[in-house]
Amino acid sequence: MWLTARTAKRHCGGNSQYSVAVHCVLYLLLLHLQLCSSCPSVCVCRSTEADCGGHDLSTLPALSLLPSTVQTLLLPNNHLTSLPASAFTNLSSLVRLDLSNNYLGNLPAHVFTDLGNLTELNLRNNSLTALDRDLLQGLGSLQRLDVSLNGLGAVPLGLLEHQHGLIWLSLAGNRLQALDRAVFEPLENLQHLQLGSNPWECDCNLRDFKNWMEWLIYRGGYVDAVECTLPKDLRGRDIRSVPVEMFNYCLQVDNENGATKGGATPCARATAAPLPGGAVVQSESEPLDCAKQRYRPISVRRAIGTVVIAGVVCGIVCIMMVAAAAYGCIYASLMAKYQRELKKRQPLMGDAEAEADSEEKQISSVA
Ligand SMILES: *[C@@H]1O[C@H](CO)[C@@H](O)[C@H](O)[C@H]1NC(C)=O
Ligand SMILES: *[C@@H]1O[C@H](CO)[C@@H](O)[C@H](O)[C@H]1NC(C)=O
Ligand SMILES: *[C@@H]1O[C@H](CO)[C@@H](O)[C@H](O)[C@H]1NC(C)=O
Repeated sequence: MWLTARTAKRHCGGNSQYSVAVHCVLYLLLLHLQLCSSCPSVCVCRSTEADCGGHDLSTLPALSLLPSTVQTLLLPNNHLTSLPASAFTNLSSLVRLDLSNNYLGNLPAHVFTDLGNLTELNLRNNSLTALDRDLLQGLGSLQRLDVSLNGLGAVPLGLLEHQHGLIWLSLAGNRLQALDRAVFEPLENLQHLQLGSNPWECDCNLRDFKNWMEWLIYRGGYVDAVECTLPKDLRGRDIRSVPVEMFNYCLQVDNENGATKGGATPCARATAAPLPGGAVVQSESEPLDCAKQRYRPISVRRAIGTVVIAGVVCGIVCIMMVAAAAYGCIYASLMAKYQRELKKRQPLMGDAEAEADSEEKQISSVA
C-alpha cells in the first residue's frame, strides 16, 4: 500500500496542471479497481474470466484471490496431477471450468460440490482411470461434460443421477468396453453423446445400452460412433447396425443363468466355469468362440424341434393309414364271411334275390 501510494505520488506529483490532475485521479481509480478485483499472478483476468492456461503449473494458483464474480476459470495445458478437495470452494459463481490437457489422475469426490452454477466442465485429455460416483454431486446446472481422452474403464452407477440438464456428454477415447443403461437413464435432456474410440465389446453386456441409445436417437439425439472391437466377427461394425435379433440369445443366457444381472460376460462365465478357481485366461478368440457356442444351441434346438414335429406328423399319418387298412381288411373278411353264410343258408333262393338282399344289408351296415 505504501509502495502504491509512492508510485501514485510519483505519477501525480510535479505540475499542478488540470490535465495532470485528471490523469492522476484516473490512475488512482485504476489502482483501486485492480486492488478490488485481484488476480493470481500467473493468470490473466478480464471482466468475468480468469485465464491461467498454458503455464506448466503443477499446483493451482491462489484461486481465493479471484473476484467473487468470476464466471470462467481456464486452467488447461498445465501439469496438474491432483486437486485439493477444497480447490473450488467459494467459487459458486463459476459457470465454466476448463481443466483439459493436464495430468489429473483422480479427483476428490466432492471437489466440485460448491459449483452449483457450473454449466460446462472440461476434463478432456487427463489421466483419469476412475470417477467417484459422487463427483458431480452439487453440479445441478451442468449442461456440458467432457471426459474424453482419459483412461476410464467404467462409468459408475449414480454418477449422472442428478444430471437432468446435461445436453452434451463426451466419453470418447477411453477404455470403455460396456456401459450400464441405468447410468444414462437420468439424462432426459441429452442431445449429443460421443462414445467413439473405445474398445466396445458388443455382447450381452451392451445390449440394454444399445436399446437405450436407439431410444435416444429416436428422440432426436446424436451419438457419434460405437464401433465394436469384440467379438471378432463384429469388429469395426457400429453396434447400431447390428440387428437386435443378434442379441436374442442374451434372453436365453439370462434365463439359463437364473436372470443374473450385469456381472461377467456370458463368455467369461462360460470359460470361468471349467477352471477350478484358477486364473481365468482370456484370449481374444474366446469371446468369439463363446458367441458361437451360444448361437449353436438355438439352431440345434430348432433342428430337433423340426425333427420331432415331422416325426409326430408322420406317426399320426402312419397310424391312420394302418387303422384304415385294418378296417378295410376286417370289413372285407366280414363281408366275405357274411356272403358265404348267406349262400349256405339260402341255397334255394334265386341269385337275383340273394344279390338284392345282400346289397340291402351292405347299405344298412355302411349306414
Ligand atoms: C470461503 O468463504 C468463507 C466465508 O465467506 C470463509 O470463511 C472460508 O475460509 C472460505 N474458504 C476458502 C477455501 O476460501
Ligand atoms: C447461482 O445462480 C443462482 C440462480 O441461478 C443465483 O441466484 C446465484 O446468485 C448464483 N450464484 C452466484 C455466486 O453467482
Ligand atoms: C494432451 O495433453 C498433453 C499434455 O498437456 C499434450 O501434450 C497433448 O498434446 C494433449 N493431447 C491432445 C490430443 O490434446
